[in-house]
Amino acid sequence: WWDHVGPAPKDPILGVTEAFLADPNPEKINLGVGAYRDDEGKPLVLQCVRNAESMISGTEFLESLSSSVSLRLVEESAKLAYGEDSDAIKEQRYAGVLALSGTGACRLFAEFQRRFYPKSHIFLSSPTWSNHHNIWRDAQVPERKFRYYDPDSKGLQFATLIDDIKHVFIEKGMFSCMQNAPDRSFFLLHPCAHNPTGVDPSEEQWREISYQLKKKNHFPFFDMAYQGFASGCLDEDAKAIHIFLDDGHLVGCAQSYAKNMGLYGHRVGCLSVLCADAKQAAAIKSQLQQIARAMYGSPPVHGLLLVSTILTDSKLKRLWKTEIKDMAKRITGMRVVLREKLEKLGSAHNWQHITDQVGMFCFSGLAPEHVDQLAKEFHIYMTHDGRISIAGITSNNVDYVANAIHEVTRS
Ligand code: LMR
Repeated sequence: WWDHVGPAPKDPILGVTEAFLADPNPEKINLGVGAYRDDEGKPLVLQCVRNAESMISGTEFLESLSSSVSLRLVEESAKLAYGEDSDAIKEQRYAGVLALSGTGACRLFAEFQRRFYPKSHIFLSSPTWSNHHNIWRDAQVPERKFRYYDPDSKGLQFATLIDDIKHVFIEKGMFSCMQNAPDRSFFLLHPCAHNPTGVDPSEEQWREISYQLKKKNHFPFFDMAYQGFASGCLDEDAKAIHIFLDDGHLVGCAQSYAKNMGLYGHRVGCLSVLCADAKQAAAIKSQLQQIARAMYGSPPVHGLLLVSTILTDSKLKRLWKTEIKDMAKRITGMRVVLREKLEKLGSAHNWQHITDQVGMFCFSGLAPEHVDQLAKEFHIYMTHDGRISIAGITSNNVDYVANAIHEVTRS
């Protein structure tokens, strides 16, 4: 029956964790997966989650979430993305469903996109989170790319990005050509803490991106997996989305509580799609619910209860915001220390991008051979594209990491 089935290629992110776990060296460091670690290198259970846990213990029935809790959680999530006073929320012009974290939210949207725009493409930034390729491929939505990251400046290729919104760059083997992105195309954007590059457009650049997308009637789909990690503030990190709303876009948004609530294993997320009116929103919601029903029924309830408890209790919500700020601050602090250490070691390279980039990741510019050498000789693991999860760096290992990076980039 299964002779024709070969092994799937290793996942570029999860494969790093596997290699790290297989390394018996006690000094090993995992800078691969984007998961927050405290300054001792340990996973963190947020205090707001611990408090919520004790509040729901014993009260939870082992059935699907009640529709009132689920409605409230979707609404609270929509407020985090679109703003407390957003008209779209007041007018009930959004279709929102709970989803299996950000991945599940993207997967639902991709399926929805294929059903209702079967000939459409998804335009992905180059580069983007590796799983975006899998998600839209499995939904049978072909991808196109728009240029985003500039390897020379290790920042944003803004003019080219804008060009690609108007005319998309197609690579075909050795040849490449410019092609207009057809009007009404789907663009996937990271509103904050771009993964993998850590490069976010400025406010002014977002305004221009929004303007250009609107001119072409494109549909912006935001994948907001790291809200809070760029600036330390939830609202600030949703600013790009607010700009798009001010410009009158209808947008979609995938949200995840994996990173900003530290609920990685619970898979809590939300997908919302803004609509022209409440009637359209109800129709779209019913379609999304039907897709989810066939894919996985309904999401597991425990994590959802934790999140809804935190979002609907003002004290817990305040505590959550402080804890996000602290996580973001530790990461920013580690960026500064790593850069300083490399400069003190006399590295001939410019490491300014370590502190210019934001969020959990630094797109270091390390070449694949550097990455291999770091794993082999120093037991430091990161994805092959040179993405460093800064959350894996601590006060104790930053000297070792800086020294290793300096050693492999000496020549
Ligand atoms: C990452 O990019 O490392 C995270 O989003 C985790 C994952 O599942 O890929």
